[in-house]
Amino acid sequence: MVYHKQQLKEERDQPRPFGKHPGFIVRRHEPFNGGPQPALLHRSFITPTELFYVRNHGAVPQVDPARYRLTIGGMVQRKLELTLEDLQANFARHTLVAALQCAGNRREELMRVEPIPGEVPWGSEAVGNAAWGGVRLRDVLQAAGVAEHALHVAFTGLDEVERHGRSFGFGGSIPLEKALSEEVLLAYEMNGAPLEPVHGYPLRVVAPGYIGARSVKWLASMMVQETPSDNYFQAHAYKLFPPSARADNVDWSSGMMLGDFPVSAVICSPDQGASVPAGIVTVEGYAIAGGGRTVERVDLSADGGTSWISATLQHKKQRWAWTLWTAHVELAPGQHQLIARAWDSAANTQPEDPRHIWNFKGYINNAWHRVDLLVR
Ligand code: MTE
Repeated sequence: MVYHKQQLKEERDQPRPFGKHPGFIVRRHEPFNGGPQPALLHRSFITPTELFYVRNHGAVPQVDPARYRLTIGGMVQRKLELTLEDLQANFARHTLVAALQCAGNRREELMRVEPIPGEVPWGSEAVGNAAWGGVRLRDVLQAAGVAEHALHVAFTGLDEVERHGRSFGFGGSIPLEKALSEEVLLAYEMNGAPLEPVHGYPLRVVAPGYIGARSVKWLASMMVQETPSDNYFQAHAYKLFPPSARADNVDWSSGMMLGDFPVSAVICSPDQGASVPAGIVTVEGYAIAGGGRTVERVDLSADGGTSWISATLQHKKQRWAWTLWTAHVELAPGQHQLIARAWDSAANTQPEDPRHIWNFKGYINNAWHRVDLLVR
């Protein structure tokens, strides 16, 4: 779906669910899921909260801060039960600018290869870059004392999700090694304000460089354990399955649990299908690298990938954050296709075609990003 300026204007008077911007594309109302029209995304390095995408699997829980408790158990020396005040008073506050990206970002392009029923048809808006504030997960784990042989930290949220006739809190896990790294936060602030309810108030995990699903919102409990979480969203969903797998033949154990996301560049402006005057066209977008790697270069092609120019990166070398980029290309009247691709600090780049990375859950599409233009 493409939003044009006129549509944005018409939507200004519409209700704003969860305080989101009028240019928010609501992909689902219940549970609420959506993100900004991509042209709004590259306007600022820090994504304003009103533009930050929302990915929910159940209704947003209303959490009473006075009754809120975070429990820490499993393979620890001391089980802990902490209030929000305990966390704020007894652990150092840290801030970090980090991007979150849903594993389903750009699923829409995979759906054009072969339908992916039942999943949210994300364009390129399920991503944002925020300033998070909170405590380091490792400081809390150290207070609990991690037992020998522990390998994973499993999180469960306070929301209620229905799957296969069962109701349970959304959950997932990260390896202990990641949990002990300095970038993983238990965040109570986003962009300098307490977390909004829709983003996990009062406390959420922020696991930078990992798919968004591991950044569990409305965090209720953490379990230190030898195995990954057996929550549906770790053991079934958010896994990368072989190309031959389909919903009716899948061997759930065959999938790879997703962690780091791959490098990707997206064109935010001009919009898909835009009509622009001939001459120098300004192309803008975002690029993101997972796993603590940095975006080193963004290439832009206007001739199907035969030749490329390098874009200017605005925030090169900032680990965990995205970078915004700009390129200028001269285009004569006619139909054109622009293509963007990024390279990260491990020399990874993007596959050319979404056909080559299609998977039946529609995750991790980082194929070359293409935008068709009419140049007049
Ligand atoms: N945490 C809970 N409790 N419930 C959820 O549905 N969705 C996950 C993650 N944490 C989810 C959750 C997914 S898939 C993503 S991509 C991110 O939250 C999205 O975070 P946001 O809505 O703050 O952008």
